[in-house]
Amino acid sequence: MSAWDDATPYQSWRPQALVPATFRPPAAPRVYAVVNQKGGSGKTTTTVELASAWAAQGLRVRVIDADDQEAALSEWLLPQYPEGAQRRSLRSVFFDECTLLDATYPTAFENIDIVPSSMDLKRVEYDRPIGAEMALASALRQEAETHGGRSPYDVTLIDGAPSLGLVTVAALTAGDQVLVPLAVGGLDLKAMASLDRTITHVRAKTNPKLEVGAVFLTAWDRSGFARQLASRVTEDYPEAPLFPIRRSVRAAEAPIAEQPVRVWAPESTAVADYAQAAGILLPGEAK
Ligand SMILES: Nc1ncnc2c1ncn2[C@@H]1O[C@H](COP(=O)(O)OP(=O)(O)OP(=O)(O)O)[C@@H](O)[C@H]1O
Ligand SMILES: [Mg+2]
Repeated sequence: MSAWDDATPYQSWRPQALVPATFRPPAAPRVYAVVNQKGGSGKTTTTVELASAWAAQGLRVRVIDADDQEAALSEWLLPQYPEGAQRRSLRSVFFDECTLLDATYPTAFENIDIVPSSMDLKRVEYDRPIGAEMALASALRQEAETHGGRSPYDVTLIDGAPSLGLVTVAALTAGDQVLVPLAVGGLDLKAMASLDRTITHVRAKTNPKLEVGAVFLTAWDRSGFARQLASRVTEDYPEAPLFPIRRSVRAAEAPIAEQPVRVWAPESTAVADYAQAAGILLPGEAK
């Protein structure tokens, strides 16, 4: 696809995905860490919408809530806890109290399972259990080993917290790729620079294979700023596809309705934009 066309009058600007010629979809298992330490950049929305687009294609998707804030992913997707059993969360995995699969629950949505979070995930930052940086990566590896070398999920998406703390480093260590949502209108280029340093660090220390898999410009509009941000991102990340996701009031309503935007407002522009991204990232996966 072509680059942004600077000669186009702004009235005709379209949210166009930019996919570098070098882009190749990752091979299974795919573990994506959705990370940006800036709050409100669209991490949780990106996680939910990619998960529901892939789930709708019949892929088995797991989302891992790596954010200790209340009312985030775990409130949005409603884990279905079995009655009477102890409730596990990502914290239990970090403290070696259970396996990742023990902490995985179905959600109200077909083909999407969740490892929920809880406010006590903060304990990981305070107590710094031994091996915390590797905890998620090892848990995924162990799980694959007990399943004949393959993850029981086609895709795993880890929804990061707005921080570059230990849990985020663990998410980056477990990921094959980082997906970076950038909110158009925020001072996100600064956030991007420190995320970049963290990625370089993680690559050097704990996860040499880590790549920036895609950048999402969330709440995209036709402003000149959105365009500037887009061209800057393509310069900085020539290898990563860039997906503009249009600003949509319906997208902002969906978390309150406790439904993915795809379910709450299937006609929304944001749904079409995330579906396009999902199709480009994992093409030919329909089952
Ligand atoms: N395309 C969009 N159009 C309009 N609003 C959006 C869009 N995408 C996300 N939002 C809204 O922006 C806000 C922040 O999004 P989201 O919660 O996904 O960000 P986040 O990076 O996960 O935030 P946090 O850092 O707090 O975890 C939410 O209210 C969400 O509904
Ligand atoms: Mg979030």
